[in-house]
Amino acid sequence: MTAYGDSTRSLRAGRAERTPGQPYAPGPVLAAPYEVDPAGPRPGLDSYGRTDNPSWRDLEAAIAELEGSAGCVVFSSGMAAISALLFATLGAGDTVLLPSDGYFKTRSMAAQRLGSRGVHVREVPTAGPYPDFDGVRLVLLETPANPGLDVCDIAGISAAAHAAGALVAVDNTAATPLGQQPLALGADVSVASGTKALTGHSDLLLGYVAAGPELTSSVRAWRDDTGAIPGGFEAWLAHRSLATLDLRLARQTATAAALADALSGLPGVADLRFPGRRGDPSFEVAARQMRRIPGIVTFTLPDADTVVRFLRGSRLVGAATSFGGLHTTADRRAQWGDPVAPGLVRLSCGIEDTEDVVADVVGALRAALA
Ligand SMILES: Cc1ncc(COP(=O)(O)O)c(C=O)c1O
Repeated sequence: MTAYGDSTRSLRAGRAERTPGQPYAPGPVLAAPYEVDPAGPRPGLDSYGRTDNPSWRDLEAAIAELEGSAGCVVFSSGMAAISALLFATLGAGDTVLLPSDGYFKTRSMAAQRLGSRGVHVREVPTAGPYPDFDGVRLVLLETPANPGLDVCDIAGISAAAHAAGALVAVDNTAATPLGQQPLALGADVSVASGTKALTGHSDLLLGYVAAGPELTSSVRAWRDDTGAIPGGFEAWLAHRSLATLDLRLARQTATAAALADALSGLPGVADLRFPGRRGDPSFEVAARQMRRIPGIVTFTLPDADTVVRFLRGSRLVGAATSFGGLHTTADRRAQWGDPVAPGLVRLSCGIEDTEDVVADVVGALRAALA
């Protein structure tokens, strides 16, 4: 079989072979009930919109293809996917390891809703050191971690965790399946928010769990029971957006690399992180493990007021608490409760021309820091 490149794969993922007279992409299926055989439900026929939707199935096939997983289940948001994974795999007495520097909502949800159900929740920084995994049921890694962008060694941690009988899941939100395939690196599950770079147009929320048949079927059962489903239209829109994933990521990453170069050494900009830049603490492991680096840079300004001046002074950088979209945006993470410095900024590069973004950001930072 031909080994296609990333753009060809993104464009064709989950799409049927071309058929004369048929569109390149079938339209969204919007249905609550479907017509049922009066004699009773028939296997293979859709019956109800909480369990069945052809637009989800196409999208799931596409994501599974890109992740290199046997199966995929899509959800109404990244948090719905993460909750499905945690609740479907963990019970009273189990221990889960979560990243202490990852997406804050995963930690707070687990502490509040798993802790009270008898699950032991422990936190480990993404960069380690990792404890031994004895007695651990599930290790959830987030690499690169949001917002600090530390990267961890998925293969090494998976081998050690598996030897102790633990499952390994990777939050693949920042990397996307074009950036890394956690299952090929040894993890059991890739879980992600598709709200970010995967779909990238800032117009929908989505999540997914990509895994082998057993885990896929238990999270699918969780979705059927809880109803955490995406709409047919969102699934269709997400699939449409996947076609440009490679093109979007290429520009975003190139801009982030140029921006990281421009910001390094800029007086007033501290703790610059971009794992694709030589000298970044995660450069070596990212270079070994990742196929491409996300278009995100994180840095710290002296205080919150400087961040406000920077955002007000920029013409191109929107203030938004998300990343991976078409527009360049930045977020002061401490305002949402992340345990980081008040001036820490996560800046997500969009698809504007690289030189426009670099000139705008550097100019606005210089003015804010003057
Ligand atoms: C790394 C990571 N995982 C999961 C989520 C949750 O995704 P959603 O907002 O789609 O629920 C986010 C959201 O920012 C995230 O950054």
